[in-house]
Amino acid sequence: MQAALSGKVIIVTGAGQGIGHAIAEGLLAAGASVVLGDLRAPELAGLPADRTLGVAMDVTDAAMVAAAVAACLERFGRLDGLVNNAGLYSGILHRGFEDVGAEEWMRVMLVNTLGVHLCCQAVAPELRLSRGAIVNISSAVAFKGSPGLSHYAASKGAVVTYTRTIAKELGKDGVRVNSVAPGFTISDGILGSGRNDLEARKAAAQASRCLPRDQDPEDVVGSVVFLLSDAARAITGQTLVVDGGVVLH
Ligand SMILES: NC(=O)c1ccc[n+]([C@@H]2O[C@H](COP(=O)([O-])OP(=O)(O)OC[C@H]3O[C@@H](n4cnc5c(N)ncnc54)[C@H](O)[C@@H]3O)[C@@H](O)[C@H]2O)c1
Repeated sequence: MQAALSGKVIIVTGAGQGIGHAIAEGLLAAGASVVLGDLRAPELAGLPADRTLGVAMDVTDAAMVAAAVAACLERFGRLDGLVNNAGLYSGILHRGFEDVGAEEWMRVMLVNTLGVHLCCQAVAPELRLSRGAIVNISSAVAFKGSPGLSHYAASKGAVVTYTRTIAKELGKDGVRVNSVAPGFTISDGILGSGRNDLEARKAAAQASRCLPRDQDPEDVVGSVVFLLSDAARAITGQTLVVDGGVVLH
């Protein structure tokens, strides 16, 4: 049987670690060629050299984003998909909304919303040619709220509404745009955040789920592969919550 993404070329942002790296590995396993973008060009050791390209890109810098797309086209000659995964989460200090200053608000918004917008803009011409697809990584907090993370929750809610809107704009060109909203996921960022309450957070997450287990980055991969594949050809503008069954739509 042909792999779900065989022959497709996909850019993944924030692919140096965590959920983004797991997604890149999953796309490769599904047959795609993958451009792994991150603030520093990701290590490619252990990945198939003929189907991977690592690029340094800050998603908030339009020139770097354009350069990443150009590097993809030079190497692979086409582009079929984008996963907007780069985002700020694990390093954000939890504070009541009255204590979130304008600078911190904008820092989170810049990466989590403007970064998504700039990357979608940069890939749109190529995706029109390939009739490709975009997956934006939101968060389950967009639907349930998260005390202490007003700026983060607002940014991820924006990803959902942005997804719906550009799905409507790009649909006539055969380009699909969907979102995946993970719940609490034990990513590299979470493991490296230096907080000493990981076990308590894991326990709280488990207790809130239909499926009482920890969620790892690999748990997010299948939904992204599916939404980028032709199996999802009639699905656009949607957000798929991947959280073990906390938010139930
Ligand atoms: N871990 C969770 O519980 C969870 C839950 C829901 C949603 N998410 C979302 O999933 C995505 C990945 O989360 P994670 O926990 O794997 O994060 P992580 O911190 O482990 O990795 C994030 C990666 O994004 C990169 N990055 C940050 N800013 C960037 C920028 N401006 N340009 C390019 N790359 C940049 C980082 O260098 C890093 O490699 C984020 O969008 C996050 O909001 C995470």
